[in-house]
Amino acid sequence: MIDPEIFDRPTHAELATRRSTKWTLFGPDVVPAFVAELDVDLAEPIARALHDAIARGDTGYANPVDLPGAYARFARERFAWEIDPRAISVVPDVMVGVVEALRVLVQPGDAVAINTPVYAPFYTSLEEARVRRVDVPLVRRDDGTYDLDLEGLEAAFAGGVRAYLLCNPHNPVGRAFARATLDAVADLAARYDVVVLSDEIHAPLAYASNPHTAFATCAQRYGARALALVSASKAWNLAGLKCALIVAGDAGVARTLATMPKEVRFRTGHLGAIAATAAFSEGGAWLDALRKHLDRNRHYLTELLSEHIPNISYAIPEATYLAWLDCRELGLGDRPATAFLRDGRVALSAGTDFGAAGAGFVRLNFGTTRAMLREIVARMACAVQAAGIAS
Ligand SMILES: Cc1ncc(COP(=O)(O)O)c(C=O)c1O
Repeated sequence: MIDPEIFDRPTHAELATRRSTKWTLFGPDVVPAFVAELDVDLAEPIARALHDAIARGDTGYANPVDLPGAYARFARERFAWEIDPRAISVVPDVMVGVVEALRVLVQPGDAVAINTPVYAPFYTSLEEARVRRVDVPLVRRDDGTYDLDLEGLEAAFAGGVRAYLLCNPHNPVGRAFARATLDAVADLAARYDVVVLSDEIHAPLAYASNPHTAFATCAQRYGARALALVSASKAWNLAGLKCALIVAGDAGVARTLATMPKEVRFRTGHLGAIAATAAFSEGGAWLDALRKHLDRNRHYLTELLSEHIPNISYAIPEATYLAWLDCRELGLGDRPATAFLRDGRVALSAGTDFGAAGAGFVRLNFGTTRAMLREIVARMACAVQAAGIAS
């Protein structure tokens, strides 16, 4: 057992020495809570595997022979999802996987559905793959939670959509879709012959209250064509090392994916593959401790907001370390992230980056220490106060 208190250890001063996007995009006076990086020390088995590779000069091209088996064991244990390791392709990252998979699964100009608001690179990746985007907005309930619009999806599928890029669990709204919902999607996909690309990068971070359902397990039951995009990069903070996996849901999809250019595999980071193999095979105890820490943080954020900025509405996410905050009552306009940065020196993701439905929202990354989380909310409260004084 690893004590979740270790995730409160990194200090602001130490974190500020990092050279990653999170810690360098803004000046040193800004507290970053935007991009999905974790403020954690590396899990010990991963650090050991990387140090060992460097000590041996093992820094050539990737040939991740052990990774598919390691992921298949992880998926069986965590998600009761049986995978044949031969159905797995290794790719440099999830979004490269989306683009390369679309290039072989559909034709340029074909219609591809997404559920807005959604992770911003979904928009640009569909452009890169030269497909036509069809938005099927999520449905927002009065309590601030979101779900898929099954009727909207059926209408889109009936209207000629050829592929569907699902975000499961969903970034930014934090929904871990229920099995019954995903079964209904699989049924529709089978009936309209739509191939589903399920981005499951946040799957290890679905909280115990809402366990992750691997879409492929639904697709298999209904005979839908599907693939999953998975990675250790979010849960173990390895995004810069460049390694992700595509898991084909059936033999037909696997055959199509085998026609992706061979170079795609060799563009994967060798250290990323080493780190991902260590994460999936030896990183379970660390992941469990992290999940406890994040679970505590997602509730702590409710406390902090109700104490300091009660006009923000926040539905606690079912997965991810991302909080989708409704700031529309604050009177900070469509892009409150601008006021938070200008007047509070805290960097949040602008809701509009995720689509027009994000106007008045921000996304806050609570994958940090409790002390940093207090600092983030305190700075947001300063910005709200400044706006009150100015108006
Ligand atoms: C839903 C989702 N997909 C993909 C990515 C990016 O993954 P990668 O860096 O492997 O392309 C992220 C990063 O935050 C994400 O939230």
